[in-house]
Amino acid sequence: MLELDTTIITPASVFETSGHVARFADWMVKDTKTGDVLRADHLVKNVLEARLAGDKEARGLAAAPVVEDKKKKKGKGAKAQAVQLADEVVAEYETILAKLDNYSGADIGELCRKHNLRNPDTGNEVSEPQLFNLMFASSIGPTGQHPGYLRPETAQGHFLNFSRLLDFNNGRVPFASAQIGRSFRNEISPRAGLLRVREFTMAEIEHFVDPENKRHERFDEVRDIKLTLLDRHIQEAGKSTTTEMTVGDAVDKGVIANETLGYFVARIYLFLTKIGINPARLRFRQHMANEMAHYAADCWDAEIHNSSGWTECVGCADRAAYDLSVHSARTGHPLIVREALKEPIVTESEVVEWNRKALGQKFKQDGATIAKTVEALDQAQLTALKGQLAQGSAPITSADGKTFTLTPDILTIEFKTTKQWVREFTPNVIEPSFGLGRILYTLLEHSFWSREQDIDRGVLSLPPLVAPTKVLIVPLSARVFDPLVKEVHAKLRKAGIFSRVDDSNQSIGKRYSRNDELGTPYGVTLDFASIQKRTMTLRERDTMEQRIGGIDEVVEVLIELVNGSMDWAQACERLPAYDGVQAVE
Ligand code: GLY
Repeated sequence: MLELDTTIITPASVFETSGHVARFADWMVKDTKTGDVLRADHLVKNVLEARLAGDKEARGLAAAPVVEDKKKKKGKGAKAQAVQLADEVVAEYETILAKLDNYSGADIGELCRKHNLRNPDTGNEVSEPQLFNLMFASSIGPTGQHPGYLRPETAQGHFLNFSRLLDFNNGRVPFASAQIGRSFRNEISPRAGLLRVREFTMAEIEHFVDPENKRHERFDEVRDIKLTLLDRHIQEAGKSTTTEMTVGDAVDKGVIANETLGYFVARIYLFLTKIGINPARLRFRQHMANEMAHYAADCWDAEIHNSSGWTECVGCADRAAYDLSVHSARTGHPLIVREALKEPIVTESEVVEWNRKALGQKFKQDGATIAKTVEALDQAQLTALKGQLAQGSAPITSADGKTFTLTPDILTIEFKTTKQWVREFTPNVIEPSFGLGRILYTLLEHSFWSREQDIDRGVLSLPPLVAPTKVLIVPLSARVFDPLVKEVHAKLRKAGIFSRVDDSNQSIGKRYSRNDELGTPYGVTLDFASIQKRTMTLRERDTMEQRIGGIDEVVEVLIELVNGSMDWAQACERLPAYDGVQAVE
């Protein structure tokens, strides 16, 4: 992939062209008395979930998970009241929630009236939903004469640089560009830590592919990966039942539209589970027709379950040729791939030849309009025009209703066989787009736990790959072990492994447990045996098991554990268990 770093401040014309000015918006409603603004879909979700939780309570069943607003702001938000609902009302609410992302603004307005959905904070009625554009507007230049926006996605920077990217890839697809950077969205109600923020870090890949060949050459590597899928048909039927399926089957059965989309969905799964996301709390949900962003032809979200429910953390969209086509049409700069063909494409068609000089002399500034009008005609219309010209003249009407009379000295039309040795096409784009803050927040939730025997102290089970500190070095006491501490620290540093020394006065157990809370996966202890026999113990955070070996051997094992070429079970085969006997002073 070709890495990019493009600008955040972007001229307005870019987002006018990309469709974001007109269509990158959420539905909002206003409290009719206080004027408070609420996101329309969140209002429906919060109120209906609270009513369903109240129904469960009234039926003596366990209450539903706490509703988002209620938990965050004491005394505010939708509150569950123990009121039993009719069975058909429960079913209707569940159907609405399953399809919520597919409702238009008018649909949500209708729902608010039908189900008496009010602002949960005040009990007041709400207005009809209105669109609220999510971009932050700015102005560029000393006099502010150039309107601009903070980018709401990094993707447009990739598309604007497409010609250069294509050059770097020798004019061929497939290839991909990647960018990590800040984007900005004026969220109606930011909340829940890193889950909904106005300034956030995205990592986006734009993979450019031939629209007539969306196979992926490495698809077989991921074909057997099993995914939990929630496709659009299930949701549109008002259900949220997931299906387990290999990505190979999903593509073969047309559930996922093509290999390239399937390949990236599988790679997203591998990435998330490798960094420590619990696969049992990960699903891929396809967007419903009305839910899709304006540029997308298909989209699968990696949704991860956390304390706020199922949260979109990665999107994987097929943006087809949308972006390159709109930018190219606006600027007149072709954003296409030219593929040299081994065999020519042979076409037989009516071909127009202009006498440009005569056209200009006779029609002056209307010449361009006439040429555009004729070039927009289909084959049958060209044949008819040729017949009229053969009789001396032909009238033609432009899109704005003006009629011109064409004569054979201006243009000729001939039926010709042409051989085309180059195929021109606009690539399609498959876009995996990662919300890094959301992933990090959810990873912390999935990784944090406490031991039964010590519930006040947490353990952060980050995989070694993502743990900020890989190894804790614990000398039995300060000073006397300093030379050995320095030696081990230096050996690890040389191997590229970040370690920290904890030579405080706390007991070794306390030092280990506070580093468990920081997610440090391994600890090594230097004691008197280390001086006498050059041994060192190695402790694993989650199991608290300890092994022992020579200093150099333990360092070798650590290098493999941290780079992922060995797991803890293999480390235990290599190093004997530590029996807890300290060497004598
Ligand atoms: N580029 C994907 C997104 O904006 O969500």
